[in-house]
Amino acid sequence: MIKVSHLYKSFNSQAILKDVSFEVKEGEIIAILGQSGAGKSVLLKHLIGLLFPDQGSIEIDSRDIAKFSEQDWLLLRKKMGYLFQDGALYDFMTIFENTAFPLKEHTQLNKKEIGEKVRNTLSLVGLEGVEQKYPSQLSGGMQKRAALARAVILNSKILLCDEPTSGLDPVRSRDITDVILNISRHFNTTTVITSHDMKNSFRIADRLIIMKDGSLVAQGTREEIESTDNDFVKEFLN
Ligand SMILES: Nc1ncnc2c1ncn2[C@@H]1O[C@H](COP(=O)(O)OP(=O)(O)O)[C@@H](O)[C@H]1O
Ligand SMILES: [Mg+2]
Repeated sequence: MIKVSHLYKSFNSQAILKDVSFEVKEGEIIAILGQSGAGKSVLLKHLIGLLFPDQGSIEIDSRDIAKFSEQDWLLLRKKMGYLFQDGALYDFMTIFENTAFPLKEHTQLNKKEIGEKVRNTLSLVGLEGVEQKYPSQLSGGMQKRAALARAVILNSKILLCDEPTSGLDPVRSRDITDVILNISRHFNTTTVITSHDMKNSFRIADRLIIMKDGSLVAQGTREEIESTDNDFVKEFLN
């Protein structure tokens, strides 16, 4: 579904991503772990075409994104849900309006159908009875849930979440991670999460990728990562 090969990226001649290669299979949940500044967000931004490789290639659905037209990106982004680190709901719209926004922009659904779809999706992320509230009236965890509902409401096939637990307490971090797992399974999305939250990532990811200073130092299943003899990974796990 997603194949990144020998990806390099620099900003102002500073190498940020160095020879990053990995694959994500259809329906898989992958967690990209690493300390702050490791290059996780930069990597994720390449997958939605906010950034482009200096070297290397990215294939999505067996197609090289370097060959995408604007139209190809528009179509692909419709199939992709992106949960930004800061939630990024529109402050001036209610939760209902925020969640309905992609449907109004990209579908021909009528008012009743939009209402049903919004309520169903909000209920999938565990949000009920807050449709008429504004984002500032909700807790951080609830805002993330609403942002997640909006991200997948077009029946996304790919879900990208940048630090979904950042800024949340342990209980809410666990909750939002479970919601991501439910949503991924419900829509059968191919899911990539970046995080420095080891515990929750290990709980839901099919495979994990560990990054350090722009390089990929380990990838594999939980068991494979836990049994590695790489010193950095061992230290990171403790
Ligand atoms: N647009 C940019 N221009 C210049 N430097 C950037 C840009 N985006 C990220 N960086 C730098 O790239 C490095 C990795 O950033 P990032 O991917 O955000 O790390 P994280 O793993 O915490 O998500 C950081 O040193 C950051 O300052
Ligand atoms: Mg980041």
